[in-house]
Amino acid sequence: MARSKVTVVGAGNVGATCAHWIATRELADVVLIDIVEGLAKGKALDLAEAAPVMKYDLKIVGGNNYEETADSDVVIITAGVPRKKDPVTGQFPSRDELVKTNQKIVGEVARQVAKYSPNAVIIVVSNPLDAMCHVVLHESGFPPERVVGQAGALDTARYKAFLAEALGVSVRDIHGIVLGGHGDEMVPLPRHTSVAGIPVRELIEEDKLQAIIERTRKGGGEIVSLIGVSAWYAPAAGAVEMAEAIIRDQKRVIPSAVYLTGQYGYNGLFVGVPAVLGAKGVERVIEMELNDEEKAMLDKSANAVRSVVEVLGY
Ligand code: APR
Repeated sequence: MARSKVTVVGAGNVGATCAHWIATRELADVVLIDIVEGLAKGKALDLAEAAPVMKYDLKIVGGNNYEETADSDVVIITAGVPRKKDPVTGQFPSRDELVKTNQKIVGEVARQVAKYSPNAVIIVVSNPLDAMCHVVLHESGFPPERVVGQAGALDTARYKAFLAEALGVSVRDIHGIVLGGHGDEMVPLPRHTSVAGIPVRELIEEDKLQAIIERTRKGGGEIVSLIGVSAWYAPAAGAVEMAEAIIRDQKRVIPSAVYLTGQYGYNGLFVGVPAVLGAKGVERVIEMELNDEEKAMLDKSANAVRSVVEVLGY
C-alpha cells in the first residue's frame, strides 16, 4: 500500500510540531510549507536527520513550493499571523484586522492546496478558527466534509489532562468531550464525562469540577501568560489526532469544527460538535441530546462564529 502524504502549511511552532509527531507516529510522508522558505526547509531537514535515531522511516521535505505537496491525503493549515503588538504603534490589531489579515493568508493557502491536492481533507488550525474554516471552504471549493477545524480536540485534551491530575488516575481512563469554540464559548459537558465509565460527579466535588472547567476555558491564556506566545504541543497533538483518524480511516469520534447543515439547529455555520472522522473526512455528525443550559452555551458559541464570519464579507 502506498504511504500516505500529509502537507503541513506553516512551519512555525504548531506546524513544525505537527510534522514532528506525524513522523514519530510514522503516519505519513510529510511536506512542510512556509512562506519563509528556509524555515520549512531547515525544520524538515532537521527532522529528517533525527530519523536514524528516532527510527521513523519517512520522507520529510520542506520549502515554499506547492508542487511538492501534490496529491496529499491530508493538509493541515497552521499558517497565519498571531495576535501580537505592532512594534511601531505598540497597539494590538483589532479582531477584525486580524481576521482580514489571516483571511488573505489562509485564502491563498487554500487555493494552492486545492490546485495541487484536489482530493485532500483539510484540517484547519489557524485562528480565528471557525472563521478560517469558512475561508478554506469558500476558497478551496471543497465539499464541506473535507474541511474540518481543530478546536474541540485541544480543549478536550486539556480538560482530560486536568481531570486526570486532580483524580490521580491515568489520562487514558478519562472520557469526556468539549464542544463549541475556544474560550468563553466553550461547552464542556460534565454530564458526559466519566472515569472508565463511572460518572465523574461520583468522584469529584462540584466546586473542584467547576474549577477544572474554568481552567480549561482559560487553558490557552494560561500558556500565553507563562511562555508569552500561544501553545503548540497540545494544539499540534489535536491536529495530528484528527489526521491519524482520517489517514487510518479510524472512524474516531472527535469534537471538531464542522460545517453544519441543520444539525443542532444551525445552518451554513462551522460549530464545534462531535464528528466521526474517517477516510472521507467528516463522515457523520453525532447529534447529542443537550439540556437547556448546554444548548444555550452552544448557541452563544454559534453566535460568536456568526459575528466573525460577517467580517469575512462572503
Ligand atoms: N504561507 C505559508 N506560511 C505562512 C504564510 C503563508 N502565506 N503566512 C505566514 N506563514 C507562516 C509564518 O511564516 C510562520 O512560520 O505561518 C507560521 C505561523 O507560525 P507561528 O507564528 O509560530 O504560529 P503558531 O504558534 O504555529 O500558530 C499558528 O495556529 O493555533 C493557531 O493561533 C494559532 O493561528 C495560529 C496558528
